[in-house]
Amino acid sequence: MDGNGRWAKKRGLPRTAGHSAGADAFRKIARYSHKLGVQYLTVYAFSTENWKRPADEVAGIMALLEKYLLQALRDLEKEKIRICIFGDLAPFTPRLQTLCRECMERSSIYTGGQVNICLNYGGRDEIVRAAQKWAAEGCPALSEERFGSYMWGGSIPDPDLLIRPGGEMRISNFLLWECAYSEFYFTDVLWPDFDEAELDKAIEAFRHRQRRYGDVG
Ligand code: IPE
Ligand code: MG
Repeated sequence: MDGNGRWAKKRGLPRTAGHSAGADAFRKIARYSHKLGVQYLTVYAFSTENWKRPADEVAGIMALLEKYLLQALRDLEKEKIRICIFGDLAPFTPRLQTLCRECMERSSIYTGGQVNICLNYGGRDEIVRAAQKWAAEGCPALSEERFGSYMWGGSIPDPDLLIRPGGEMRISNFLLWECAYSEFYFTDVLWPDFDEAELDKAIEAFRHRQRRYGDVG
């Protein structure tokens, strides 16, 4: 979900206002994806590298997270979306950690759609942790499938489509293991402006991709 800061700057607003608009965009897209029947939506909300940002911006993002989780808890029964958090929650405040765990536990009964929120997430960090989990289990025989099951998402399917808004054309440490055969869609649209019509466009582009997985097709 990239481009919040630039969106705010264009309007002469503080970066946190961009993050707030970004949170609104996320809520809208999560609801719309669910309506479209998307089974898994994974969003990159905060990376292991984002801690380098100025303290007031990090604090602003944390406050928005808390607001989002409280709202999600309140709307659980209406939305019926399962919420999972990918990432190590240890550096977050106890309050935020509790909210995350409560969201995950209380939404785990819903099976019609899952939103994965990547918090303090890094793709390389995820792979290193997977290796550590594997080692902790005594290094059982490995396959790609088995190793994949040590990722935050367990054995959920790999993403079919990866969308990066905000104009940059890089992966920035997102789902490195899982994106091996994902289709990539880049757009200059800044995340707070990414709406239902933009998601339709991305899905339409995806429909025209030919997926060969290394075969001749
Ligand atoms: C993405 O928007 C939000 C987070 C990383 C939390 P940015 O804050 O990276 O926005 P730009 O790239 O500066 O416009
Ligand atoms: Mg950015």
